[in-house]
Amino acid sequence: MSLQLTWLGHATWLLQTSNHKILIDPFIGDNPSSTVSVGEIDADHILLTHGHFDHVADAAEIANRCNAMLVANYEIATWFAEKHGVKNTLGMNLGGAATLPFGKVKMTLAWHSSQLPDGSYGGNPGGYIVEIDSKKLYFAGDTALFTDMVLIGSTGLDAAVLPIGDLFTMGPEDSIEATKLLKPKMVIPAHYNTWPPIEQDAAAWSKLVEQKTSAKPVVPQVGTPIDL
Ligand code: NI
Ligand code: MN
Repeated sequence: MSLQLTWLGHATWLLQTSNHKILIDPFIGDNPSSTVSVGEIDADHILLTHGHFDHVADAAEIANRCNAMLVANYEIATWFAEKHGVKNTLGMNLGGAATLPFGKVKMTLAWHSSQLPDGSYGGNPGGYIVEIDSKKLYFAGDTALFTDMVLIGSTGLDAAVLPIGDLFTMGPEDSIEATKLLKPKMVIPAHYNTWPPIEQDAAAWSKLVEQKTSAKPVVPQVGTPIDL
């Protein structure tokens, strides 16, 4: 099987190889754009970018059912271990990398906030560079535009997943600037059309990417795998 990335709606992604299922920011049960139920989703690793409910809501259920390794910043990893009994956690922090059974993950900066659902301190928000099956993917997480994206892109990205919803994260125009800084081969939008305040026209965004950047825009359909 090739490397496949499936949008589960909002900022939730399932990255699959022949041997691994890596789930990013699981928000499924209460996600209006989800087409699956939480119980249908299996994973061996779960990566969390920050503590907000729309990124962590179903992490404990899936981690505990699948005995998946939960990867997050140190504060969030500790919170899941202590408050939700998640046994298999890996706490990281910004700039750090870890080699895992499927490949390598590095936690990157994100300009956002990170409070956990019960009000606990959620550390700093982040994103991930995931190296897997000889591909390098960047999941920006929830973030504003920042010029250090040049550094993130400098080693060569096969794909970048960027928020475009605006209001809580960068919007479509700033995602175009981000794409110019990151220079990925492929750019995929996230964190939009979940609720009315973050509705965006993905087709218009796609045209802008084609006009203004060298990246190939790929507009995801919920539940349909993208071959990377
Ligand atoms: Ni957030
Ligand atoms: Mn969010």
